[in-house]
Amino acid sequence: MRPFDDILRLERAEALDRLAAAVRAVVQRVLHNRTLKDALHGVWLGHPLHPALAQIALGSFTSASLIEAVGGGRRESSGLIAVGLASTVPTVAAGWADWSESHEGQQRVGLVHAALNAAAVACFAAALLQRRGGRGTGGLLSLVGGTLSGAGAALGGHLWYRQATGANHGNEVPHVGPGNWQPLGPLAESPLGQPVRRLAGDVPVFVLRNGTAAEVTVLSNRCPHLSAPLHQGQLSTIDGEVCVTCPWHASVFRVRDGVVVHGPATAPVPGFESRGEGVLQVRVRTLPGIEAS
Ligand code: FES
Repeated sequence: MRPFDDILRLERAEALDRLAAAVRAVVQRVLHNRTLKDALHGVWLGHPLHPALAQIALGSFTSASLIEAVGGGRRESSGLIAVGLASTVPTVAAGWADWSESHEGQQRVGLVHAALNAAAVACFAAALLQRRGGRGTGGLLSLVGGTLSGAGAALGGHLWYRQATGANHGNEVPHVGPGNWQPLGPLAESPLGQPVRRLAGDVPVFVLRNGTAAEVTVLSNRCPHLSAPLHQGQLSTIDGEVCVTCPWHASVFRVRDGVVVHGPATAPVPGFESRGEGVLQVRVRTLPGIEAS
């Protein structure tokens, strides 16, 4: 039995699903504006926003409790608690936006992560009120808040590293995609204007043929958000550009270059170079400093 095995049980706790469904309905109603939701996912940043904000809240709260634990200055501790509380609203909003577009197991862990953080915030707010009202030092509340916040952060780490909730699921493609030209089969077997799935070496790719070989677009077939098969997505035209909507959580990508148009994804779909008019050939588009296999 290892310490984190309990979190694995949490991932499978179906008892949380009814609560998750109710919370998800509320979050989706509140965050129905797509521009707001994209902003909270971090599409404008090209990176998930929640972890960037969470480090401000977590760092402030942890520092405040450590100051309290070593008997440091109450003024400094209060200032850090105030910073942590001020950063809570955007951090929580970004977190719920990401949570509402995740898998069941991720949502179960995410609910407990949110509950621990909410309890921590309540403790720190109460500590600050106690001090300001002259009704006590708030020291104990700060220490309890710091402990809860640390436990919430551990679950946040699990969500990120073990469950890959905010990870870029296309990151490995430039490393494992074929660096040498690979045949994908006769071009004529790819229907016009209809994306199909093919294999480039071992890597599933999305192929969209608009006419001649020069008009073939090849991308990784796995959505960078949570790996949905993009060839099952809907095509549309946005601002004159052909785009594909992911079949799972409706991220929208520009087909020409894989750029994110709408989240929850924040990373682009990796692309492939193509050539050949009879038999289509592809190789992965590498990044500077990365050698494909
Ligand atoms: S897998 Fe979630 S948007 Fe594609």
